[in-house]
Amino acid sequence: MQHWTPSSWRDAEARQMPTWPDAAAAAAVEAELKNYPPLVFAGEARSLREKLADVAEGKAFLLQGGDCAESFAEFHPNNIRDTFRVILQMAVVLTYGSHMPVVKVGRMAGQFAKPRSADTEEIAGISLPSYRGDIVNDIAFDAAGRTPDPERQKRAYMQAAATLNLLRAFAQGGFANLQQVNKWTLDFVGRSAWAERYADVANRIGEALAFMEACGITPESVPQLKGTDFYTSHEALLLGYEQAMTRQDSLTGDWVDTSAHMLWIGDRTRFDGSAHIEFLRGVLNPLGLKCGPTTQPDDLLRMIDTLNPGNVPGRLTLITRFGHDKVEAHLPRLIRAVRREGRHVVWSCDPMHGNTVKAASGFKTRPFDRILGEVRNVFAVHRAEGSYAGGIHIEMTGQNVTECTGGAIAVTDEALGDRYHTHCDPRLNAGQSLELAFLLSEELAAERTRLKTAA
Ligand code: TRP
Ligand code: MN
Repeated sequence: MQHWTPSSWRDAEARQMPTWPDAAAAAAVEAELKNYPPLVFAGEARSLREKLADVAEGKAFLLQGGDCAESFAEFHPNNIRDTFRVILQMAVVLTYGSHMPVVKVGRMAGQFAKPRSADTEEIAGISLPSYRGDIVNDIAFDAAGRTPDPERQKRAYMQAAATLNLLRAFAQGGFANLQQVNKWTLDFVGRSAWAERYADVANRIGEALAFMEACGITPESVPQLKGTDFYTSHEALLLGYEQAMTRQDSLTGDWVDTSAHMLWIGDRTRFDGSAHIEFLRGVLNPLGLKCGPTTQPDDLLRMIDTLNPGNVPGRLTLITRFGHDKVEAHLPRLIRAVRREGRHVVWSCDPMHGNTVKAASGFKTRPFDRILGEVRNVFAVHRAEGSYAGGIHIEMTGQNVTECTGGAIAVTDEALGDRYHTHCDPRLNAGQSLELAFLLSEELAAERTRLKTAA
């Protein structure tokens, strides 16, 4: 394999990158970013890889979620707190139901850049560059706003740094203490049947903690009860930014992309000769690779070889996204190819991106039934193939949005316009996320019983 450097991607084909109008200005921003402090450390990326190795072996579950696209406008501590809180609730439900550790990874603190199907967008006869995320240009449809501005990368870095700082404080500073389990609920979820089930789980955990405390096991004596490890991730799309954030670990000489713990390659940048694959193969971070209906087993195996030549468990997570009715047609051949070649991967399910439809009202939405349907089908296929469905990758928010239709507090087609705030794809709201967590915990609990009976 060819020699890798942080800039070797520049000789490969880079799709989905903005054309900065002033290349010198973009280079100046990248030079400045190169001197900014790293957001994460090599040791953290390694410990995430170790936890994901447990997932690959069927001993833990990966929960990855957050915004489709973070935005400058929605930057607020309450938004960060609310999303984090829903992830904690989901994690508790999953840990309780599966009896396994849950590896928590946010699509947060850096998930700004978006791939687009077309370079330009046309409204009323006017054609302008597509919106590529706040790190590139403005969502407002005017010539000034849509012009890619490299300075935005500095603002995105600052927002990522502040977001990560708060997440670290929440994860370790007391908010995530298991004794707070019944305080992570959100008012507007209070009405659903799932909120009642959550309260029930929270009470049982409270009972267990009280019992353990009487036995001398307290958050003070066992710090695992007091905090949690929370990791960040985003799609590594803007390679200039990612390169500037890539540093050499002083202890080992390894290269780490310090913009996030985990990075993934999207459906549109996954192809032979991709600059994104070239870049990511050289950094030690755990990687995700989105796989869809167009992924052929041979291509996938070649990419696995490139991204994880040492076959290190936890290094690579395959994030499948087919559409609820296409799972059976596409997933089995990928699983078989990976098994035939003895490749260690984490299989994670993204039930969002293959299930986007246009509602009669014109809004882009995702019917909750189809999201659940894809999850169920993925679990069924893995069960049939004897592989382990190890994770979920979702677009969600702690806000009470109306972006995906359905769920226990049903969002109707007509109600989509009430609180449709996303800058990009429709997200699950807090209630829908919790409902999904219960479905997953049932699947995982069933799996546990099945394995026990088989043993
Ligand atoms: N440290 C354990 C874990 O992260 C237990 C834990 C503490 C926890 N706070 C949590 C689990 C919040 C889920 C949610 O798994
Ligand atoms: Mn999306």
